[in-house]
Amino acid sequence: MKDWNWKTIIEPFKIKSVEPLGVTTREERLHALASAHYNLFNIRAEKVLIDLLTDSGTGAMSAAQWGGIMNGDESYAGARSYYNFETAVKGLTGFEEVIPVHQGRAAEKILFSVIGGKGKFIISNSHFDTTRANVEFSGAEAMDFPVKEALDFDKPAPFKGNADVAAMTRFIKEKGAANIPLCVMTVTNNSLGGQPVSMENLKAVQNLCRKYGIPMFLDCARFAENAYFIKLREKGYAQCPVKEIAQEMFELADGAWMSSKKDALVNIGGFLAMNNRDWSAKARQMLILTEGFNTYGGLAGRDLEAIAIGLSEVLDENYLQYRIRSSAYLGEGLLKHGVPIINPPGGHGVYVNAKKFLPHIKPGDFPAQSLACALYLEGGIRGVEIGSLMFGKRDARGKFLPAAMELVRLAIPRRVYTQSHIDYVIEVFGSLASGKKKIKGLEIVEAPAILPHFSAKLKPVNT
Ligand code: F0G
Repeated sequence: MKDWNWKTIIEPFKIKSVEPLGVTTREERLHALASAHYNLFNIRAEKVLIDLLTDSGTGAMSAAQWGGIMNGDESYAGARSYYNFETAVKGLTGFEEVIPVHQGRAAEKILFSVIGGKGKFIISNSHFDTTRANVEFSGAEAMDFPVKEALDFDKPAPFKGNADVAAMTRFIKEKGAANIPLCVMTVTNNSLGGQPVSMENLKAVQNLCRKYGIPMFLDCARFAENAYFIKLREKGYAQCPVKEIAQEMFELADGAWMSSKKDALVNIGGFLAMNNRDWSAKARQMLILTEGFNTYGGLAGRDLEAIAIGLSEVLDENYLQYRIRSSAYLGEGLLKHGVPIINPPGGHGVYVNAKKFLPHIKPGDFPAQSLACALYLEGGIRGVEIGSLMFGKRDARGKFLPAAMELVRLAIPRRVYTQSHIDYVIEVFGSLASGKKKIKGLEIVEAPAILPHFSAKLKPVNT
């Protein structure tokens, strides 16, 4: 808000429609946890008070978007809503080929079945878990090159989402550019704290990719939050409208895919966009096979309409100021209680460093999942583990290798909760911090090989 001189950044909207929160007793939560096998994906949402599991598809749509939904054109082919959607995506990204999909991972599945395969490598600042899974499912390998400061959680730095260009360069030289069909820059970097990527770093990665003839795509689920961070933190951008910053980010890239469930402020949707006609023709064949026809791609006309409106609403700087302030406020509150987080807080939420918070729980006993369960039990708050349950591996002999980090992400849905909800979360963490020695580890009872965190069953250790 341009001339806002108050300390309190308020929610820049008023509420037209409400729904009740899931209020439960501790007893009910104990029971819910046990019957969910200590996997919070298995808890019924009505048993959750504050749901910070994800910021994906959980946002509140605006009156304008709901109006757009009534106007949705549900024609199978050539729907007006598709053209509104295409105009919005082209206007933002500049890419010629716009392919609608039902969500981000559908774009990933389609893209990597076109360009992935055995013997190939995809390089990135960090792949999100579904991106990594889709790369690996195609037979290719997903290689992350985060900057070193991204892994020093305590020490703040403005652009911890950046890629390590020198390490990427060494990797390209070692494996050969011919084996690297794509570089993906995830903005913001979700797996490592929702941290932004600077324009300088995007330019450096683009230069590197151009030199070796490797296309660079953006995984742009949170492009507006990233662009707003550039405005706040990068020299030369303070006066630049966020929309122009976002457009500059896309201009550097050869293509992008988006889970529109984040920064398009909708509950479902996504797109894959690029200029490469050869890739897009192959992608469209896959689209028709798995998602739907070119002008709806697995979505209803009304969904396309809501995305078109959301893509412009998200660039409202009053909204972005409130959005980024909400995450920072939560992060500051947790730090005051001595809860270690990835500092600074990310755009879409706060990531608690469970390894540091619960040093008495061994990495093999899932400290982050244990903390996520304790948080639910204590206050009915649902976060998500980003640790050994999500990224742990087994060696050739079947021995479990824990992940390098143990995080609990508290992702804030867009336009859903108010400051008092966040104050409550901070208070519950205060209580957890003072009794943290009582939190016990967990062990796996059963888990599938692909994306185990969604459906694994666990139990407390020694039970
Ligand atoms: N890329 C990023 C950076 C993401 O954060 C996500 C989803 C996807 C791709 C996949 O998109 O869910 O629409 O299929 N992230 C969600 C999350 C699930 O909770 O962070 P999707």
